[in-house]
Amino acid sequence: MKIIQLKEAERLKEGLRSLTEEFIGEHSYYSTWIQKNSSTFKDGTRIVYELNDKEKVVGYMMVHFSTEKCAKINGIFVFPDCQKRGYAKEALLQVLEQLKSQNYDYAFIQTRTNNKIVVHMFDSLHFDVIGQNYHKIENQTNLLAVYDLKEKRNFDEMFALAEQLYPGFSKK
Ligand SMILES: CC(C)(COP(=O)(O)OP(=O)(O)OC[C@H]1O[C@@H](n2cnc3c(N)ncnc32)[C@H](O)[C@@H]1OP(=O)(O)O)[C@@H](O)C(=O)NCCC(=O)NCCS
Repeated sequence: MKIIQLKEAERLKEGLRSLTEEFIGEHSYYSTWIQKNSSTFKDGTRIVYELNDKEKVVGYMMVHFSTEKCAKINGIFVFPDCQKRGYAKEALLQVLEQLKSQNYDYAFIQTRTNNKIVVHMFDSLHFDVIGQNYHKIENQTNLLAVYDLKEKRNFDEMFALAEQLYPGFSKK
């Protein structure tokens, strides 16, 4: 499996549709969110990757290059009939390697507190769960985790960056 950055407009559109589909039903603001942030997909601040196994699309992942040092993994989705085959784990490992080679310090990711699969992946991939992020629009609390790409183990720096990047952040 490899991750491929989507550049062509129609494929990018399909990736975004697929990534946000299950959330749009619940939170309609995601459809306007895509429109509002469309320039970031053009200028490369946000990237959608296709998860591609032998020319077959098995899912999508979105990354936001938030600052010079920090990236946010905004979402990952593996199609239901392709789940439990290691694709998500492999995609995260590949993006973490890319970020390391691009000299990033931290990769942040959040998930709903009840998303047991992702919480399990935080553990098995050695993300540090550093706190919670209250999402005002969704009216719910997410767990916030960070991957320490340079193994600095500087938790004060991680907390300070999380406060900048996530308005509803509170540390553990
Ligand atoms: C979360 C998601 C991306 C995982 O994708 P996946 O390709 O099936 O995950 P993987 O096969 O790489 O499995 C990763 C780990 O989770 C475990 N896992 C995956 N699906 C599982 C399930 N249904 N039940 C229990 N464990 C599961 C795997 O065994 C593996 O464990 P390991 O690290 O001990 O080997 C996928 O379930 C999904 O798209 N869910 C809906 C969208 C979502 O919740 N996205 C996350 C938003 S942050």
